[in-house]
Amino acid sequence: MADATFRIWRGDKSGGDYKDYKTHTSPGMVVLDAVHQIQAESAPDMAVRWNCKAGKCGSCSAEINGMPRLMCMTRLNTLDLSTPVTIQPMKTFPKIRDLVTDVSWNYKVKTKIARFAPRKPEADGTWRMNQADVDRPQEFRKCIECYLCQNVCHVLRDHQMFDDFIGPRFLVYTANMEMNPIDSGDRLKALKDEFGIGLCNITKCCTKVCPEEIKITDNAIIPLKERVVDEYFDPVRKLFKMFTGK
Ligand code: SF4
Ligand code: SF4
Ligand code: FES
Repeated sequence: MADATFRIWRGDKSGGDYKDYKTHTSPGMVVLDAVHQIQAESAPDMAVRWNCKAGKCGSCSAEINGMPRLMCMTRLNTLDLSTPVTIQPMKTFPKIRDLVTDVSWNYKVKTKIARFAPRKPEADGTWRMNQADVDRPQEFRKCIECYLCQNVCHVLRDHQMFDDFIGPRFLVYTANMEMNPIDSGDRLKALKDEFGIGLCNITKCCTKVCPEEIKITDNAIIPLKERVVDEYFDPVRKLFKMFTGK
């Protein structure tokens, strides 16, 4: 493979700009390899966050040619190398330096969500679940917390509603617990009042960028919306509650 140019954003929270780096490419390389090669050859001070180089730690999220992706899972042979490849930090989160953003808002959001609370076990001290209930939320557990879905969601990215919306990643996290029949917690009121589930207009942008191919919108968000509507806005249920008190 030939030389290619990588247009990488350099700077920090006070500002910055793109800088072009030319480097040699070889078969099998991914974008993170190119970034490491550039670090080794000409930019030893360039900041980049990564850990596993296997698509499993969720650290190397960035925007490659404008698309939110994992750098370690983006092969160079899927990109047009005849023009510069742009690499920039995730736009939704505050910049720290170069390709590294501050994603700590996500950690704070997670602490607001009620933890898994197992109901009392059966008489023999165990819990039993139907296989369908085991299978259904299985995909939610594949989340690697790369925050690419949070980065692309317009409620956070464009409208900056960080105080009002927990974002698709944490709707997946909540769905995992809400769909577990062993869990005794109830997060529906919080979803309606604090977590802003009504702000999601199911555009599916989050689903499109998820490297674990979790069907975020169809399998997590829409079922949660349905549960909130059933609980708080269903007139039949309201009447039933009124008469039975349940
Ligand atoms: S479907 Fe909802 S959570 Fe996902 S990107 Fe669109 S608005 Fe955000
Ligand atoms: S749901 Fe997908 S895109 Fe969102 S943080 Fe998890 S793995 Fe990343
Ligand atoms: S380095 Fe771990 S997901 Fe890319």
